[in-house]
Amino acid sequence: MKLADFLNEADRLAEEAQAAFATAADAKAVEAARVHFLGQKSGRLRAVQKDLALVAPAERAAAGKRFNELKRRLEAAHKAAVERVAVKTAPLVRRTFDPTLPGTPLRLGRLHPITQTIEELKEIMGRLGFSVADGPEVEDLWHNFDALNIPPEHPARDPLDNFHLCQKLPPGEAAEDAPGYKPVPFLLRTQTSTVQIRVMEQRRPPVRIISCGRVYRPDTADATHFPMFHQIEGLMVDRGVTLAHLKSTLQLFAKSAFSEDVQIRFRPSFFPFTEPSVEVDMSWQGGWIEMGGAGMVDPNVLQAVGYDTEEVTGFAFGLGIERIAARRYGITDIREFFKNDVRFLKQF
Ligand code: FA5
Repeated sequence: MKLADFLNEADRLAEEAQAAFATAADAKAVEAARVHFLGQKSGRLRAVQKDLALVAPAERAAAGKRFNELKRRLEAAHKAAVERVAVKTAPLVRRTFDPTLPGTPLRLGRLHPITQTIEELKEIMGRLGFSVADGPEVEDLWHNFDALNIPPEHPARDPLDNFHLCQKLPPGEAAEDAPGYKPVPFLLRTQTSTVQIRVMEQRRPPVRIISCGRVYRPDTADATHFPMFHQIEGLMVDRGVTLAHLKSTLQLFAKSAFSEDVQIRFRPSFFPFTEPSVEVDMSWQGGWIEMGGAGMVDPNVLQAVGYDTEEVTGFAFGLGIERIAARRYGITDIREFFKNDVRFLKQF
């Protein structure tokens, strides 16, 4: 082989190999180029080395010198490529895990404003010595009506004013008024006053409880009404309990829930389970608003649960929690609470 041909071959290989190493995009491509050009068995450099033996002996020293130079250049190009791709991937690794960066914030939920209000009301009444009692939302007629001195002919028991439960009838056994269904003596409770009865059936006086929960009425939804809403019920039965205790308790309650300058007003009213009965209005930063009903527990109710009306008297109250929450948060339409609009709920 002529020396000139050998030198040409060496130059071509140097050019090709340097271009390949310079453009290899990643470690895998650099390794492929290394095997192709510098591989021990069948690499291109190895082929040039074999050609060296074919150069005439007189010219072999010059050819050998060029071969060594070629080998050094290829090895340097390989080393540079290895370093280049290592540097390139390093920031990538850092980008996937950098312990110094702040973490991805978790989107924490929060309690519904009605639930928050209930928690605060329980806390306030707890400080006044009232413990928390619970009752079922599906109630029987005794606890929702009879024991509360609401007789069968009372208009509040009109089926159209209540959510009664029905039983599905087997096919063919149709009832007249509601085909396929038969009414059962249960309903969704219309007031938390049911819990007064449940507690008094279980405990002897003295009793000092509150109960918060959902109640249901087929009311048309508007700014101050919703078919499902929440009430807070209070009941205190002991020796010598009077209307003055009721008023001072509600006054303290309202001052704690709102502010010192809140005013409470009683208006004469009627509830079958209290005598006398009052409507409780509240005034704070504006006009009066009706919060609920209250009164002295009717002796008939105390007797229905076996209490001695010569011994004890009691007061009871039931307030609408949506109205309280609306006032506290400055909301003018209670329907907002139940739209499930996260933009609204996020504010509380
Ligand atoms: C009662 O439910 C009586 N159980 C209250 C009571 C308890 C009286 C203990 C005496 C002794 P009334 O139906 O007025 O009373 O309801 C009480 C309050 O619930 C109302 O003043 C109002 O704040 C709220 N409320 C009534 N209906 C709705 C409704 N559809 N949506 C939102 N809040 C309501």
